[in-house]
Amino acid sequence: MTGRVAVIGAGPCGLGQLRAFQQAKAKGAEIPEIVCFEKQSDWGGLWNYTWRSGTDEYGELVHSSMYRYLWSNGPKEALEFADYTFDHHFKQPIPSFPPREVLYDYITGRAKDAGVRPWIQFNTAVRHVTYDKNSGKFSLTFERLTDRALHADTFDWVVVATGHFSVPNVPHFPGVESFPGRVMHGHDFRSADEFKGKDVLIVGASYSAEDIGLQCHKYGAKSVTMCWRTQAMGFHWPETMDERPLLTKIEGRKVFFKDGSSKDFDAIILCTGYQHHFPFLADELKLRTHNRMHPPHLYKGIFWLDNPKLIYLGMQDQFYTFSMFDAQTWYARDVILGRIKLPSKEAMQKDDDAWVKREEALKDAFEKIDFQADYIRELCDATDYPKFDIDMTVDEFKEWEHDKEHSILGYRNKAFKSPCTGTMAPVHHTPWLEAMDDSMKAFLAVKGGKAAAE
Ligand SMILES: Cc1cc2nc3c(=O)[nH]c(=O)nc-3n(C[C@H](O)[C@H](O)[C@H](O)COP(=O)(O)OP(=O)(O)OC[C@H]3O[C@@H](n4cnc5c(N)ncnc54)[C@H](O)[C@@H]3O)c2cc1C
Ligand SMILES: NC(=O)c1ccc[n+]([C@@H]2O[C@H](COP(=O)([O-])OP(=O)(O)OC[C@H]3O[C@@H](n4cnc5c(N)ncnc54)[C@H](OP(=O)(O)O)[C@@H]3O)[C@@H](O)[C@H]2O)c1
Repeated sequence: MTGRVAVIGAGPCGLGQLRAFQQAKAKGAEIPEIVCFEKQSDWGGLWNYTWRSGTDEYGELVHSSMYRYLWSNGPKEALEFADYTFDHHFKQPIPSFPPREVLYDYITGRAKDAGVRPWIQFNTAVRHVTYDKNSGKFSLTFERLTDRALHADTFDWVVVATGHFSVPNVPHFPGVESFPGRVMHGHDFRSADEFKGKDVLIVGASYSAEDIGLQCHKYGAKSVTMCWRTQAMGFHWPETMDERPLLTKIEGRKVFFKDGSSKDFDAIILCTGYQHHFPFLADELKLRTHNRMHPPHLYKGIFWLDNPKLIYLGMQDQFYTFSMFDAQTWYARDVILGRIKLPSKEAMQKDDDAWVKREEALKDAFEKIDFQADYIRELCDATDYPKFDIDMTVDEFKEWEHDKEHSILGYRNKAFKSPCTGTMAPVHHTPWLEAMDDSMKAFLAVKGGKAAAE
């Protein structure tokens, strides 16, 4: 094979893409030259925790939105790599809701195992991508941040794996400029410790609002109020947490809400989501979407309809993460290797339209889970990605939804079965609310492993 593939980003999606090619190579396939560009100094994407916020040592926007004490919010069984299981990596069964460091170790463990680090150029930010119709090639301009040198190169395929939970959506609220306390977006939230003893307002009603609110509660905030625009989360919150309709204005420390109520706060955290942001792509290559289950104009949720040699990974709103990314990367690999032929543009458009139509009719989280599982099934059926029990993950996700409704403070204490190995996870040795140490060492210690599984 003479083609060249550029992969932009070495987070879970980019690393999955490298793994997919490495697996094909290990089975004897000839693979194209692959160059992965990563602007951070290490791999792991969002999971590569940094204490920094704002800009990094090179003046680049800090990528990670993760924070200390972040634990997986979904059962790990529903995101397990079928070709590199948790049992294989940790050599012991581990509980279902690991903290960030444990998942970082797992993601990067598979990449180490694949030996793909030499394929990655770290501290290298892709600045510009264009497509030349005449040559049929993409031109990439990238900057080595360590010496500020700009370089250019050409590729036959470009895989965009830069994520979409890094560039915050920051709305304005009247009076916010005169609020005397801290105002921040969840992207810059690093530790709940600073909110101990404080009255905290959270804006938003999705996963970040829920989890950052819970973190603040867990680490000693005096009160946490969360306010919603479209719909309240509606969980059974502890006494010091409540939900209100959206704020209308801020006067000094006092915040007024749509229901006529008001309250004084010490800090405001905007958990108002993120933007799909691709400043490095030429206009005609740029995906424009909000956070949704099937961003339109991507055949199979991956291939840019106007030019399917441009591949987007992980652009969907996510119930499934790593396993969905793998389904995509294996499929993309097989198209690049010529094992799967793409149909005509009309046929791709029709297929895309059908998924969009189905997405637009989804009524609730349960239907979204079914939708994403069907999507993964369709992709996996076309490749040699190892089989895993997708039906089991659907049941687990639905059970998890019920667990959250039943106990928002306790859902992380539950245990699930692996859809890849059938191993039942042990119950963690310490209930999540009391587990203040989120280190891998503490998580894997004694009872969390073997003893609890016995
Ligand atoms: C706060 C938070 C918590 C989350 N928690 C969970 C969880 O518990 N469980 C779960 O499964 N998922 C979770 N997620 C979802 C998360 O989206 C996925 O787990 C996963 O990180 C997505 O992988 P990715 O590779 O698409 O993107 P990312 O992880 O964002 O990686 C993208 C990579 O691209 C690089 N990059 C970006 N621009 C450029 C450029 N121009 N040039 C070169 N490199 C570039 C970045 O540096 C980064 O390394 C969470 C997300 C957030 C925001
Ligand atoms: N591991 C963990 O524990 C953890 C923690 C945090 C986040 N995450 C992950 O991070 C990803 C992103 O989650 P997210 O919650 O940041 O984003 P999100 O799911 O896209 O939700 C964005 C929220 O912001 C609200 N919003 C947007 N603009 C607003 C405005 N102008 N005024 C008021 N509200 C506004 C939206 O309200 P509407 O509903 O009205 O649009 C929605 O509630 C998810 O994949 C999630 O799983 C995981």
